[in-house]
Amino acid sequence: MPGLLLGDEAPNFEADTTQGRIRFHDFLGDSWGILFSHPRDFTPVCTTELGRAAKLAPEFRKRNVKMIALSIDEVSDHLAWSKDINAYNGDEPTEKLPFPIIADAKRELSIQLGMLDPDERDKEGMPLTARVVFIFGPDKKLKLSILYPATTGRNFDEILRVVDSLQLTAKNKVATPVDWKRGDSVMVIPSMPDDEAKKLFPEGVFTKELPSGKKYLRYTPQP
Ligand code: BEZ
Repeated sequence: MPGLLLGDEAPNFEADTTQGRIRFHDFLGDSWGILFSHPRDFTPVCTTELGRAAKLAPEFRKRNVKMIALSIDEVSDHLAWSKDINAYNGDEPTEKLPFPIIADAKRELSIQLGMLDPDERDKEGMPLTARVVFIFGPDKKLKLSILYPATTGRNFDEILRVVDSLQLTAKNKVATPVDWKRGDSVMVIPSMPDDEAKKLFPEGVFTKELPSGKKYLRYTPQP
């Protein structure tokens, strides 16, 4: 079955992009990476998403995350569309965006990566790409995937938030609770015994009492 599951290695595909031909593993290097797909060039929701992604590029760069987009049109369309995206952002309408866009006009990569949305089709009846987000770690393994249909735009602030969680939990044996953001307390993972948690988190482990009497809601300040 095409597609990628958590823990799978990113395929080392070759592709034409707005910044030249790439080999994906070379593109990623030792960085984290985010690959986000779009249904089509010159479409309204995609334009707002790429505009927001461009605005947030410095935040992804700070976190050592290389960004790359994909849409099922040619490089020449991507470059012309980039002018609209920059204009939407209130910037100079140039062809330059802070990340490349893969040209997947034949949908080869979209099929390989399981990105097509069967409910959204072009005038010829061909399926469009869904809004997929793949985040890869420096080991090139898939750490997170998000899949939205073409009709629902993503929240790129949420994507940055999950990058923060992924990077924190890659380094520390913790998990992040609902709506967590950088600086908030984190949770001790269920498999860690209390005595190990006390040693590992010198700032303290705070347990919330629950009717069940089970002491599984354990917080510690963000390491
Ligand atoms: C859009 O980007 O606006 C869009 C693309 C395909 C289907 C629906 C919306």
